[in-house]
Amino acid sequence: MTVDLLLGLQWGDEGKGKIVDVLTSKYDIIARFQGGPNAGHTLEFDGIKHVLRTIPSGIFHKNAKNIIGNGVVIDPVVFHKEIEGLAKFDMDVTSKLFISRKAHLILPTHRLLDAASEASKGKAKIGSTLKGIGPTYMDKTGRNGIRVGDIELEDFKLRYRALADKHESMIAFYDVDLQYNLQEMEDEFFASIEELKKLTFIDSEEYLNKSLKEGKTILAEGAQGSLLDVDFGTYPFVTSSNTTAAGACTGLGIAPNRVKEVYGIFKAYTTRVGSGPFPTELFDEVGSAMAKIGNEFGSVTGRARRCGWLDLVALKYAVQVNGVTELYMMKGDVLSGFDTLKICTAYKYKGKEISHLPYNIEPENVEPVYTEIKGWQADLTKMTTYDELPKELKDYIEFIEKEVEVPIKVVSVGPDRTQTITK
Ligand code: IMP
Repeated sequence: MTVDLLLGLQWGDEGKGKIVDVLTSKYDIIARFQGGPNAGHTLEFDGIKHVLRTIPSGIFHKNAKNIIGNGVVIDPVVFHKEIEGLAKFDMDVTSKLFISRKAHLILPTHRLLDAASEASKGKAKIGSTLKGIGPTYMDKTGRNGIRVGDIELEDFKLRYRALADKHESMIAFYDVDLQYNLQEMEDEFFASIEELKKLTFIDSEEYLNKSLKEGKTILAEGAQGSLLDVDFGTYPFVTSSNTTAAGACTGLGIAPNRVKEVYGIFKAYTTRVGSGPFPTELFDEVGSAMAKIGNEFGSVTGRARRCGWLDLVALKYAVQVNGVTELYMMKGDVLSGFDTLKICTAYKYKGKEISHLPYNIEPENVEPVYTEIKGWQADLTKMTTYDELPKELKDYIEFIEKEVEVPIKVVSVGPDRTQTITK
């Protein structure tokens, strides 16, 4: 069988958690392939809101197996808390959650290094979630990292010590004021490692490829968004992994010719958390209204998200880089009530109008060119069929489809599983 991908096409927080949750009943296996606890996938059903950090969103479905792939970075402390959170709902995850031995571990000192690095950058800081993501991937590509499989080795603690000591000297090099008690952090870390050991570690590329041969279906669940991809995002204001389609192949050990559908998730408008360029950002009451109605606060850090109009230049770019076959438009309901909506269809870049994403989209280089579209007033949250949607929203959807040349298959009109309209 084949693998389908589900990816965020903007700067993250598109609502992937909800869609994976809606889709999971169709799949035997849900796999995370990159990122770590910087992600916060929100799912809402039966009146309860769940935020998942490292665990795939298929965990709430009875029959789905959930894999944390080699491309993911795991913080045992955060992970343990996540498992405890699920236990409150009587969920025993041990029979349906498997972790790649090749996934890398986030050490307490990785978190400290993240904080030290950001503090040293002053105004140029990335706006990292400070979960240790960047330093852990640096150790991975620098060939110094510690992997989940290393926990099973006799000299695990020695390996840990050697790397943590090196990190401590690096932290000193940054020469910033950082208060911490490493002993406490390490006690918590090693206690969480014992908890992690209760789960099954696997060679996930073997598991997944064998499952494909057996006819099983796999959904690869992306974290963050395409514009945060370390290669194709708004570098250096990006995360440290490949959030785009190719990341699913390297992060799971699945060959490109196994990938079939690529579901691209985007919000009907745009948000960004953290620093970095954002051409369609709004600094007026319209942006504040989007933030308020859309409850745009980060699920991991609680930070307010920056809001702006939909950027089709960026969306087309993400669709192209990922080979998106179907689009899912989220938070359509948040745009109800605006008289006029704007969609960015081109950039003025160094005096010329362009319709692709250039090397540098800093505000001094790029000015968005907008098309105006009539808004709609109806409350969409109780609507259940495409026919019921207001004509203006259908016009908005058709405009996007025409520009991007990929069909919008689903329109989400609220956070709950049930508020999902299939076109
Ligand atoms: P890091 O990956 O925590 O180092 O953060 C790097 C950048 O990516 C920062 O701008 C973060 O705000 C952003 N980021 C990381 N994870 C997410 C996410 O799940 N949603 C939205 N933005 C994210």
